[in-house]
Amino acid sequence: MARDKVVLAYSGGLDTSVAVKWIDETYGLDVIAYTCDLGQGQDIEAIRQKALRTGAVEAIAEDARNLFVDFFAFPSLMAGALYEGKYPLATALGRPLIAQLMTRAARDRGAVAVAHGCTGKGNDQVRFDVTFQTLAPDLKIIAPVREWKWTRTQELEFAAKHGIEVEATKKSIFSTDQNLWGRSIEAGILEDPWVEPPPETFQWTVDPRLAPNEPEIVEITFDRGRPVALDGKDLDGVELIAELNARAGRHGVGRIDHIENRLVGIKSREIYEAPAAVVLHEAHREIEFLTLSKNALRFKSYVSQEYSDLIYNGLWFSALHQDLMAFVVSNQQYVSGTARIKLFKGSATIVGRKSEHSLYRHELATYEEGDTYDSTAAQGFIKIHGLAQSTQAKHQLLKGTSARPLELPSIIPPSASESTPHRDGKK
Ligand code: ARG
Repeated sequence: MARDKVVLAYSGGLDTSVAVKWIDETYGLDVIAYTCDLGQGQDIEAIRQKALRTGAVEAIAEDARNLFVDFFAFPSLMAGALYEGKYPLATALGRPLIAQLMTRAARDRGAVAVAHGCTGKGNDQVRFDVTFQTLAPDLKIIAPVREWKWTRTQELEFAAKHGIEVEATKKSIFSTDQNLWGRSIEAGILEDPWVEPPPETFQWTVDPRLAPNEPEIVEITFDRGRPVALDGKDLDGVELIAELNARAGRHGVGRIDHIENRLVGIKSREIYEAPAAVVLHEAHREIEFLTLSKNALRFKSYVSQEYSDLIYNGLWFSALHQDLMAFVVSNQQYVSGTARIKLFKGSATIVGRKSEHSLYRHELATYEEGDTYDSTAAQGFIKIHGLAQSTQAKHQLLKGTSARPLELPSIIPPSASESTPHRDGKK
């Protein structure tokens, strides 16, 4: 009798290779390995072949780079989504897409389950599981690494027993994940937040001290919030990001060191390399400063924070996201123009910007000829603007009668036996 099938997110690494066999033994399911290219720089066909050698009944490898950029990375850029103001969310943006593509594969092949190799301590398990639950609630979710609770030695023993290829090179000393939007590096020596990341942490960025002594200027053009050209040359998103990763990385731009608040309650030390994302966020923000009103900028910053939390927490496929997206698209309609960014020794600095929709008006700002601003109106404006404050100062702050010292109430109530009725602040 034909066995039921499971679609497994397959990276080609040890965990997911062992998972192929483990699922087969533990659940009696045929494993379909699923791999997609999000620009992580791996040969996905080679990974597919390895899955088949490892015992998968079928292995799928597809290029999802355009989907990733157009539907995930660029919308997050338009939204200004930087988790805790720092992390451009590369890993977090990749998960819902991989999970969605896996559910599609599972439907096509009539699979009854989906599986991933995440541990039980991170955010990625949440992003996968929540997406599966949302898009295909009837599929069973299997998470071998979370379930088998093995030490590394036990895992290697299992691999040896089943003849699973273990790379000759010793396993990376870090746990990493990467796609076009960035590289995430954690664990090993990085778990000590006092320790500077050693050189081997980084693969996409040079040490800023060793970066070229000459700065390089890059001009990034946006159309309604989306990057469309580099140095005046139209590029599709995948090419644009790849080129910018290389150029900014050569100048040591894009290193991020963050003590991050995971959804599962843990603070963890994370290192990121995201040269293109860092430069694009910087450039995009500068075009916003030029084209958005003060109030729109203020409000947008709330939306950016909400948006980044939502992505980080695995809630991509939510109605709230759709609502926030509607705001962002509307908010970005005049965010078109070009930013000039100087790359030099680890930093990306704005040095110029222009837009046909610029709200920076020379005729209003200038101290030179051509000024159209009405300075005489300033006096009356200032009087009214300061009225509430000067009234308060006159009748309270500057009255001379000192306010009673403030008593700070405790948020922890006393035990019942100690408690007495509380009146007028006296016990
Ligand atoms: N802390 C980041 C996040 O939660 C990156 C996780 C990286 N995953 C990994 N396997 N190293 O999005």
